[in-house]
Amino acid sequence: MNTKIQPLSAGNAPTADEHKSTLPIKPIPGCYGIPFISPIKDRLDFYYFQGNEPFFTTRIKKYDSTVFRTNMPPGPFMASNPRVIAVLDAASFPVLFDVSKVEKKNVFTGTYMPSTSLTGGYRVCSYLDPSEANHTRVKQLLFDLLASRKSFVIPSFQSSYSAMFDEMEKQVAASGESDFNKLNDDTGLDFLGDAYFGTKLSATAVGSSGPTKAAKWLIFSLTPLVTLGLPKIIEEIFLHTFPLPPFLVKRDYKSLYEYFRKAAGPALDRADELGLSREEATHNLLFATVFNSYGGLKVLFPSLLASIAKAGPTLHSRLAEEVRAAVEAEGGKLTLAGIEKMELVKSVVYEALRIDPPVKFQYGKAKKDLVIESHDAAFEVKKGEMLFGFQPLATKDEKVFVNASEFVGDRFVGEDGKKLLKYVYWSNGFETESPTVGNKQCAGKNFVVLVARLLVVEFFLRYDTFTGDVSTNLLGVEVKVKSLTKAGQLYSF
Ligand code: HEM
Repeated sequence: MNTKIQPLSAGNAPTADEHKSTLPIKPIPGCYGIPFISPIKDRLDFYYFQGNEPFFTTRIKKYDSTVFRTNMPPGPFMASNPRVIAVLDAASFPVLFDVSKVEKKNVFTGTYMPSTSLTGGYRVCSYLDPSEANHTRVKQLLFDLLASRKSFVIPSFQSSYSAMFDEMEKQVAASGESDFNKLNDDTGLDFLGDAYFGTKLSATAVGSSGPTKAAKWLIFSLTPLVTLGLPKIIEEIFLHTFPLPPFLVKRDYKSLYEYFRKAAGPALDRADELGLSREEATHNLLFATVFNSYGGLKVLFPSLLASIAKAGPTLHSRLAEEVRAAVEAEGGKLTLAGIEKMELVKSVVYEALRIDPPVKFQYGKAKKDLVIESHDAAFEVKKGEMLFGFQPLATKDEKVFVNASEFVGDRFVGEDGKKLLKYVYWSNGFETESPTVGNKQCAGKNFVVLVARLLVVEFFLRYDTFTGDVSTNLLGVEVKVKSLTKAGQLYSF
């Protein structure tokens, strides 16, 4: 893979006062149109008439620019100001990672923020700017939690997901089809509870209703950003114009909260030491586990499996060979050191995160007057203007990746492949950099990459190949597994 543009590093876009770019400064194309009317028209185009990606690609063509002005949903009446400057290429997007240039306060979900009644009255970590003291406390708490549970991740994953694969095999054998998304939704939350706190939700008073309660609460937090396939008029009124009343989900949230209050004892003790109240810490642990982690895995795992299904049996056999050789070399045990040696598995995971980043929108408000750069022009941004990135276009930038829209399993293998890693942005940062208490990069970055690798590893320890039907659902990708060929087996079932 050849890289055609100058390497970027975190925050290397110069500010207006220090602007030394040789690129011509151009006015930012696009306009916001008629107040109230145009934001609603743009919302309808975005959700229904054009769809997410074409909404941006048609405007890139129209303005001949990957940086332009537009409105972003939800607009009226949920967001008082829907005006953004879109940054849609690999060069301009990283300005969103630079917290010296953009403020990340209350912009996690974009131009609107869900009611804090959905999070116990607290603004949880994802909505905090690193300049706020609690950002450091909560993010440190999450780093400490993940570090303290590191040795539990592989056994927890194996315990939860091997039971899921058993069930998947039964379903395929019985009816010729297994709904991977449903199985993953049912398994993910128990896995996370076990990995983070040593207690599966299903083993507590929450019982088997955890995934349903979690999904309901997630919808209440995300409604203006999703479509659910209901009639447009219903969705426009009930999902995109007014927030759903948080009291409708209060009981479900309370039940999940009780789980965290009881199961997260050692983490809450650590919160005390960090100067964070146990209550605020519990709401944050709930959010990080159910929204950040579970919400992320609900989208990432089907997308990863879908890409592998579509890639076909040649990639499958290469993966199986690599995984089994590495496990054998570790004396038949699956270890972190063994996984680290699986170059193809690692590349497949990065490629899935690149081609279909699970969190597609990122926002940041200019902290000062700035100059931002695309590949071919520079643009002046005024303090207070909202920058917005639609990540799938930035990570499918043809100026960086050859055949950028194609899933290439071994894209990141070898020295040249590794050079491309810095253009993988799924974690709200360069893949070559790490989250800290001073930045807004995903606190779970290493955990996510590990569990995605574990899914591939466990899958190809069990199966030589498989087939699946892939379709898109309202939140992402859906996979129905149709056949599984067990390791060393000459027939499918
Ligand atoms: C932030 C993605 C899983 C905790 C973020 C952001 C992204 C992201 C894009 C930045 C959002 C923004 O500020 O614009 C993902 C994806 C995941 C995932 C795709 C899974 C597939 C996790 C996990 C944790 C986690 C497992 C567990 C601790 C957080 C936290 C933040 C965050 C706390 C806020 C960071 C800060 O305020 O500095 N994540 N994440 N995420 N993520 Fe993740």
